[in-house]
Amino acid sequence: MKKKIKRIGILTRDCAGINAAIRAVVRTAYSSGIKTTGIIRGYEGLIEDNTIELTPRSVSGIINYGGTVLKTARAKRFRSVEGQKQAIKTIKSNNIDALVAIGGNGSLTGASILSSKYSIPVVGVPATIDNDINGVAMSIGSDTSVNVALDALDKIRDTATSLERIFLVEVMGRDCGYIALRVGLAGGCEDVILPEKNFKIKEISQEIVEGSIRGKMSWIIVVAEGKAKAADLGKKITKITGLETREVVLGHIQRGGRPTAYDRMLAARYGYYALELIKKGQTGRCVTLRNDKLSAIPLSKAIKKKDMEVKDYYKLIKLLT
Ligand code: F6P
Repeated sequence: MKKKIKRIGILTRDCAGINAAIRAVVRTAYSSGIKTTGIIRGYEGLIEDNTIELTPRSVSGIINYGGTVLKTARAKRFRSVEGQKQAIKTIKSNNIDALVAIGGNGSLTGASILSSKYSIPVVGVPATIDNDINGVAMSIGSDTSVNVALDALDKIRDTATSLERIFLVEVMGRDCGYIALRVGLAGGCEDVILPEKNFKIKEISQEIVEGSIRGKMSWIIVVAEGKAKAADLGKKITKITGLETREVVLGHIQRGGRPTAYDRMLAARYGYYALELIKKGQTGRCVTLRNDKLSAIPLSKAIKKKDMEVKDYYKLIKLLT
């Protein structure tokens, strides 16, 4: 017989929209008479038994803030069996019947371990600026990060145009060029350099030289950090073309900030659905959208490497340059 869920635990990574997801989980749980334990500092908190009681009131006024009110940390200890057993102890001693893990690849891998190895009922909620969760079209946080990067890029364009300069703008994306590709198209950039695609600096430099002959003097090239460093590319371009470059690394500003309406809505829907799955006993899954309808995939699928299709977006970026 399915065990009645009386209490859930919730742990998170950080990015814009996660607070909105925490709010949605806590309030949906409450509406079904389920209590929520917040786990402070992610899997590290699960090991250290660092928890807090969450109520509908305690999550008020957080929907519009980036980051996570629960704090988060890298938990190397969770990779060991000893750390995992310690985490199980916390789950049991806090009477947690099921867990909601909100975050990217690392958080969902932890969720998958708890589910497959220790039979803990867990549901994953995808939240990462990289949008690199396999089988998930949209992760919480990625829309905000694209908009934050775009806002910065628009400001850089003012100077690029006025001074007729070449800018290389490095954006986040360790293994995935999601932000670079979206910002490249939305920002009207000349090129994007992505982990998913090979590039030749000589060809890019040649295009710049040909462009300058036609009178095109300002360029913005977006570089995904996982593929190359903007500073290195800038030096090479200058060496080949003889033209000055400027490099900007956007860094962590892309992970924070006020969540967009899209991310808040996604967080509300995913948070609600995580609870629906828990109540139905359909755990070991990760929430997602299929044709804009809430749905779920196995956590084992979600943690596999995602192959992002870049061809169509890239073609459009080059066509519109
Ligand atoms: O995975 C999200 C992400 O922001 C990546 O884009 C980036 O490479 C990485 O995390 C940075 O990690 P940290 O904040 O630990 O330096």
